[in-house]
Amino acid sequence: MTVATPTSAVKAGSIAEMPAQRALSPKSEAERRALYFNTGNAFNLKLPIVPDMSFTVEPARALDKNTPTGFIACDRSAEMAMPYPATSPLVLARYARIRARESLGANFQASGVVFYVIAGSGNTRCGSETVAWNEGDVFVLPGGQELTSTAGEQDAVLWIVTNEPQLAFENLRAPAQGQAPTDAVHFPADEIERQIHTLYEVGRGNDIAGSALIFSSTKQEGIRNVLPTLTVAMNSLPAGATQRPHRHNSVAVSLVIQGERCSSTIDGRLKPWAPWATTITPPTSVHSHHNGGDKMAKFLIIQDGGIYYYTRALGFEFAEHPTA
Ligand SMILES: [Fe+2]
Repeated sequence: MTVATPTSAVKAGSIAEMPAQRALSPKSEAERRALYFNTGNAFNLKLPIVPDMSFTVEPARALDKNTPTGFIACDRSAEMAMPYPATSPLVLARYARIRARESLGANFQASGVVFYVIAGSGNTRCGSETVAWNEGDVFVLPGGQELTSTAGEQDAVLWIVTNEPQLAFENLRAPAQGQAPTDAVHFPADEIERQIHTLYEVGRGNDIAGSALIFSSTKQEGIRNVLPTLTVAMNSLPAGATQRPHRHNSVAVSLVIQGERCSSTIDGRLKPWAPWATTITPPTSVHSHHNGGDKMAKFLIIQDGGIYYYTRALGFEFAEHPTA
């Protein structure tokens, strides 16, 4: 958008055609910085869409035994015209490969960090606490402090998701130590399995979207999330089942954990699942998930849903698939 030189004479036409306006006679630097837009030229700003895609190259690299210890980000910031790495506007997912007995540390500028253990075992140190993890575990740690993960006797592969883009959007720093909205929280694989089993034992009505296990903690019990913005859920889909089409304003960044012959339908387009892929389900898209295999499918879903719950704007509704 070009900025006009100060003028009081604006030609007739549509206000949508006007460049940003400036003060005619600024009396201070603060007045000089002021820009004036209008309903015609401000609200029609079109941002690039959140892409409907799957990251498959990144997990292949993370699972390759020749890949050295390090992070592999799922970054679509260029496509979304964002100046910092991002998988969706508020969320960044990355894989980490940590070779046996090696360590990988980072201080994420995020309010919290969600981990899933794809392979291996090890531990992550966070201040005075250490989480000892194994394959299939989910754990959450506060952002804004050094988190050092060390693999055990085998190479380890982790999936790590943060809300770094959310903080970067507002040019914020992570909370000071002890001030993050989460403590260290650990959901071991066997307990996750037990909880999912319980969901199926108890059953549900068709008015509930699926049989997802939602992770929370004592610190976030009130909002039933792990972080104020991020919701984390282990979704499961029995063999042959389809999850009812629905839409919501939150975007989903999901990790395919288990799902042969599984696919999603996004706004009428078929999207096959790939092993350990990170998939983006764009906001407001009508989507459903299908399990054409003979085993229970599982996928870990991170959504920026917390922020939509809080603003009373989740916009969840069941839907029929539009014709492709
Ligand atoms: Fe959904």
